[in-house]
Amino acid sequence: MSQLADREQSQPEPLKIPVHIGIIMDGNGRWARARRLPRQAGHRAGTENLRRIIEACADLGVRILTVYAFSTENWGRPESEVQGLLNILEHVIDRELADLHAQGVQLRHIGVLEALSDNLQNKVRGAIELTQSNQRLVLNIAWNYGGRQEIVEAVRRIVSTGISPDEITEATIDRFLFTAGLPDPDLIIRTSGEMRVSNFMIWQGAYSEYYVTPTFWPSFNRAELEKAIAVFSQRERRFGLAPDQT
Ligand code: IPE
Ligand code: IPE
Ligand code: MG
Repeated sequence: MSQLADREQSQPEPLKIPVHIGIIMDGNGRWARARRLPRQAGHRAGTENLRRIIEACADLGVRILTVYAFSTENWGRPESEVQGLLNILEHVIDRELADLHAQGVQLRHIGVLEALSDNLQNKVRGAIELTQSNQRLVLNIAWNYGGRQEIVEAVRRIVSTGISPDEITEATIDRFLFTAGLPDPDLIIRTSGEMRVSNFMIWQGAYSEYYVTPTFWPSFNRAELEKAIAVFSQRERRFGLAPDQT
């Protein structure tokens, strides 16, 4: 082998940066318990961490980051914890919006906003409107989100349009999901070790690559994100085809 070919062979492959990353931000409670802190301290630390990961994603060239912040099932937690999480959402909008806007972050929401107070709904809508033209990174916040509920909502709206059954395709359903217009996530990361999707993007994740780390969400840092992307880069995505077709 020529020296040049040899050198080319030993060059590391460039990283494939996922266009769209989804993160199931799990483990705030366990992070807090390990430090003998209340669960709310874990949620606060998790929110701080989100700021760092948003910046890291934008830096690395990720275009869309969808974060699972509150599921339709999380309403079943003790009222004080639910209230604490609602307070954090409000606090993030009040305190972080200007910075996110300055960073070029476009905020979006998936889920059902109507369950929130009018005041909080207005704040979320205001944040979405303010940042709608930003292009550096789309930050899609899944709040009061459930994949099954999303599909139920889509079916209801499709039926109400009066479309005939044989006209319904996968693309029709895509158009009626909360994520309409966004590409499916390439990589879905779950922190804190659970091997389940917990109702996150069950339609859109059909061919996503999954990556699970034992690290609790508040400790999931830029180095961990880069590791997840490095693992993603090594994966062979086949979409159902034979290996020599891809
Ligand atoms: C994720 O952390 C945050 C939310 C679900 C809102 P958890 O609160 O689920 O933390 P663990 O799983 O109890 O450690
Ligand atoms: C998933 O975590 C939801 C969020 C991260 C917002 P959970 O902690 O609610 O999931 P389960 O209960 O362990 O499946
Ligand atoms: Mg959890």
